[in-house]
This record gives sequence, structure tokens and C-alpha cells, in this order.
Amino acid sequence: MKRQMTTFVAAVPLTVVSLATCAALVPLPQSVKELQGCVRYSAPVYEQDASLGREAYRLRVGDNGIVITSSSKAGAFYAEKTLAQLRQTDGSYPAVEIEDWPAYPWRGFLLDEGRHFFGKETVKQVLDLMAYHKFNVFHWHLTEDQGWRIDVPGLPELVKYGSVRPESPSHGATLKKLADYQYRSESLNGIPYGPYFYSESDLREIVAYAKERHIKVVPEIDMPGHALAILAAYPKLACFPENIKRRMAWPDWGIFADVLCVGNDDTLGFLYRVLDYVCDVFPSDVIHIGGDECPFVNWAKCPKCQARMKAEGLKEAKELQGWLTTKVAEYLAKKGRRIMGWDEILAGNVPQSAIGQSWRTSNRNGSGTDLVSGGLGAERGHDMVMTPHDETYYAYQQGLGEDPFARDGEVLPLEKAYSFDPARSVSPSAKKRILGSEACLWSEYIWNEYDLAWRAWPRTCAMAEVLWRNPAPCDYSDFEKRMEVHRKRLIRMGVNCAPLK
Ligand code: ACM
Ligand code: ZN
Repeated sequence: MKRQMTTFVAAVPLTVVSLATCAALVPLPQSVKELQGCVRYSAPVYEQDASLGREAYRLRVGDNGIVITSSSKAGAFYAEKTLAQLRQTDGSYPAVEIEDWPAYPWRGFLLDEGRHFFGKETVKQVLDLMAYHKFNVFHWHLTEDQGWRIDVPGLPELVKYGSVRPESPSHGATLKKLADYQYRSESLNGIPYGPYFYSESDLREIVAYAKERHIKVVPEIDMPGHALAILAAYPKLACFPENIKRRMAWPDWGIFADVLCVGNDDTLGFLYRVLDYVCDVFPSDVIHIGGDECPFVNWAKCPKCQARMKAEGLKEAKELQGWLTTKVAEYLAKKGRRIMGWDEILAGNVPQSAIGQSWRTSNRNGSGTDLVSGGLGAERGHDMVMTPHDETYYAYQQGLGEDPFARDGEVLPLEKAYSFDPARSVSPSAKKRILGSEACLWSEYIWNEYDLAWRAWPRTCAMAEVLWRNPAPCDYSDFEKRMEVHRKRLIRMGVNCAPLK
């Protein structure tokens, strides 16, 4: 990058307010050296230094104006984001020297559009806010029991039947478990939902929008469970098609026994066709194939699944999930893609290249054969993204003094979100396998963009700092002070950010 002439720089009297208060940088850079004075105006000058990491940067604001040094466009982009937070209301910038780089390469935000659909404009707002906080992975959960959100050429039934549901749980209704794989909300609202889905041009637009912000879009196509929207479109892909009585996505939340039949060759054919399209539209090197919460009960009774087990020498029905995952991993590997899946996939004999996403027991090492903790997955050589539900599921309520968006269920306050350490309890030799984490916005109880912002912020700021700085000597009271200022900044940007407590 060529050095440009600085347009105009003027020294103005010393600032007495400390940077922590006036700039309230979130996430806090690795090294900040406060200088005296501030710069009134200067177009940044860009310099290259190949010795810096890909996402690292140096930012100097001082007598020479504003100088950004990086080895790549991503580093320069993050410097510009820091600069945006340094800008004071009078348009000046405090003089400062910053050296900065991220702790983790996977800094993600998960948005579930299966349960509720937010649409392109909200997704773009999410991407803008992600970029502002230096996130680089948008994990897009696009398929669920309650909704299928992409229009795959040649498979029109997917959106015709799968993107619509007859109704949804009522606002405030509590979900009860009646028996295994039988859940019911206290009441359903009687309001048809959908059709809601993204066209190919929508998807390409979002991918391009994200790329401009140095964000990779990792699509998630959940299989073989959470598949009732698929089965509404293609009942023959169920072990027992007669169970699929309604040609619409499922109206209630939960886990359901009807899943994809792994004994049916058409299931693989269907999945390959969907994944061909997904690979065409999403350039991501990683494709998320879900894999969570898949009951095996139907596989144990289904003649086709039994025949598959016999042919493949599998002893238990649950081994069918590992068999399917491996098939899909091999198919995607031929296209140069790598699979990622929830920690359930690690219970099967899947290729070591598979990335695990630990949501049940990321940080605790002990586990049985069915429950592979994040730490154990890493020790077995899998790269891991750590999203333990009790520390990263920001759909949980925040424990606020007053919360107009409150609901029953688990509580995850800001301070707990901030104390999260993705590599806690992972053995030293396996720590290198920990790619990072995600702010997870599951949307059963997130009805619209206001709910979404309220739940996401400020906790996603905590995640931004954990992923950028961790391990770091940041103390919560310092974060809280910066967040008081930063929250006002978010509110001025139109974000429905919740209070800190
Ligand atoms: C999950 O929360 N079922 C991944
Ligand atoms: Zn079957």
C-alpha cells in the first residue's frame, strides 16, 4: 500500500479524560499507549508490514496524522474499526499507539433463522455489528424442524412445504417435555408463519456483504435430526413416512423422533444435491452439517436402516450417524470443503479433519462414549469451536433488574459471559486445537429484530473481548466501565442494547 499525503493534521490542547473513558474500546486492543494531545482530522495513511499476522495491525495517531500498518486488508480493516471507536463527538482522535492482534481465529456469531426468520436487512445489521466488534465468522443456521430457509434448484418442495408452519408457540408460553422426543408448549398462537426463505440472489448478496467486512459465512444444514421441514417436503425420506401427517414445518419447539432415514439411498442423494447448491453459493471452506440432538429410536426399528447396519457391519443404530457423517464428509472433501458439526458427531468414527462444535460440555474433560467434551474432542485431534450452552447461549435471559424481554429458563448474565474462557480445562497440548467460540443466538424465544438485539447486546461485546483478548488480564470492572460508554454508542447507532445489569 502506498503512503499518501496526510490531508490536514492539527495539534489541539491536551485531553485530560483517560482513553478508557473517552474511547471505551471494545474489544480492548492488546496494547494501547496513550500519548498527549489529539488529532483534529487526518485521512489515514496505509503502510504494509509483512511481519504482522494476517488480522494484526498497528495504529498510530499523532504528529504524523493517522498511520495504519498491517500485512493484509483484514488487519487494516480492524484498525479502521478501532479508529471508528476512537473518534470523539467533536471529530477529533486522541493521540495513541496501538498494537493489536486477535487471540482466536474463529470469532463467530450464530443466528438461528429456522425458528424465526429475520430477513436480509437484519442479517446485514448483524454483519455490520459483527464487523464493528471484529468478529469474522457468521454461522448461519438455515434449516430446522420449524423452517427450511434456502431455495434449492430442482427441490422446490423444500420451500413450498418446509418454509411455512401452521402456527408457533405463543409469546411467553413455556415448553414442557411430555416424554422422550415429545415436547409441547403451553399454547400455540394460531398464526400461520411463512413462507419465509432466501432466494439465491439474497444468499449471494449476504455472502458478498459479509466478505466486504472480512466475515466468512458458514452455512449450517442440520442433519440427520432437526429435519421435520425436510420431511414435510419429502415424507419418503423418513423411516416411517406414515408418521408425517402434515405437509408443513413443525409448529412447536423440541426434539423429535422422526429424522432422516439413513438406510434410504435417496437420503444421501438428497443431501448431496442440497450440498452441491450450498457449495455453489457459499465459498466457505467449512460447511456445518449440524448433527445435534438426533434420536436413534426409528433407526432401530426401520427395515432400511437395519439393512444398512448389516451391510456396513454396524452393531448399534446410533452408529448410523457416524456412518452418514463420514459419507457427507467424504463428499464435501472432494469439493475441497471441510465438515463441522455439533459435538454429537464426535461420538461416531468421523474423520479427524471434522471440526467439532462443543455445546454440552466444552470445558469439562470427563465424558462417556456418547458425550465427547470439547476438551476431549481437541485431545483426539479435532479442531474445536467451544460454545458451552451455559456460557455462550445468549438466547438465555440476562438476569437484569428489570427485563421487559424476560422469559423463564436459564440465566446467563453479562459478567458470566465475560468470564468465559474457551480453552479452560483443555490440556496444554490440546489448546492449539481450540479455534474460538461464537455468540449463539438460538431463536425459539427471539421473535423479531428488537428481541434479537436485546439478547445479543451487550453480551456479544463480552464475547468479542474474550475472543480478541483471551487469555487476558482484563478485569470485569474495567470492562463494565468501558461498556457504560460503549452501550450509549450502540444505542446511538440504533441498537436495542440491553442494560448491563
Ligand atoms: C444445540 O443446542 N442443539 C446445538
Ligand atoms: Zn430408516
